[in-house]
Amino acid sequence: MEDVLEINDLVAEIEGKRILHGVNLKIKKGEIHAIMGPNGSGKSTLARIIMGDPRYRIISGEILLNGKSIKEIPTEERSKLGLFMSFQQPIEISGLKLFNYLRTIYSIHNDSNITFQEFIKYVQEKANLLKIDSSMLSRNLNEGFSGGEKKKVEILQMMIIRPKFGIVDEIDSGLDVDSLELVARSINEINMNDKSGLLLITHYMRILKYVQPNFVHVLMDGKIVKDGDYSLALEIEEKGYEWIREKMN
Ligand SMILES: Nc1ncnc2c1ncn2[C@@H]1O[C@H](COP(=O)(O)OP(=O)(O)OP(=O)(O)O)[C@@H](O)[C@H]1O
Ligand SMILES: [Mg+2]
Repeated sequence: MEDVLEINDLVAEIEGKRILHGVNLKIKKGEIHAIMGPNGSGKSTLARIIMGDPRYRIISGEILLNGKSIKEIPTEERSKLGLFMSFQQPIEISGLKLFNYLRTIYSIHNDSNITFQEFIKYVQEKANLLKIDSSMLSRNLNEGFSGGEKKKVEILQMMIIRPKFGIVDEIDSGLDVDSLELVARSINEINMNDKSGLLLITHYMRILKYVQPNFVHVLMDGKIVKDGDYSLALEIEEKGYEWIREKMN
């Protein structure tokens, strides 16, 4: 059966504040969806809720993976079921070397028994694609990494995990043009090789030029108010968001 991630009429709050007001979204394996929307409209909230961030309370609605509700399942389990999210602001973990971290997540998410040597080769290959210097592998996870390096390491993790569904939150912010292209290429590779479904949260066209979405959704005030294709992203780049709000009224 084809993998499908479905969000049905999701209403959610944090600390008593309603953020999502009925979000609907359906992503099939292999599809690339982009979510755009003004600051504070609930994009990261939606991503975190899909991953099971316990700070949020789901009031109503469903999150379904292949027709089964995952909303009561803890984050680690969701991750084992094939969901992955890269963070807008990745956290630093001292005392955990990047390489060891990658080894751990690899063994959780892949049941093939490749040798240690093979794993090193595999990681180096992926790191090379992203132009991540191999000396970084022996540093503590994200500790002292530059903004752009952190973003690249998020994508490296996604390449190691090869998720069924990957959510990428503002991966483009803080990347220089060359890094953006490398990251985009890697994202495309994950989509092509592993047929991963992808949800890209972004403010800008530039990443969508390299990673062309099949669908573009606009989230405003906690609701998806417009759906379209690539051309919608172009229209937003040109005209902003207010015209969408005006049309709604
Ligand atoms: N603990 C909290 N209490 C109250 N409101 C909160 C809390 N945490 C987040 N919010 C609010 O939730 C709203 C949605 O935030 P979210 O991070 O999802 O926005 P976003 O669409 O990702 O914005 P950006 O484009 O700036 O990243 C914001 O108005 C934010 O202030
Ligand atoms: Mg955000």
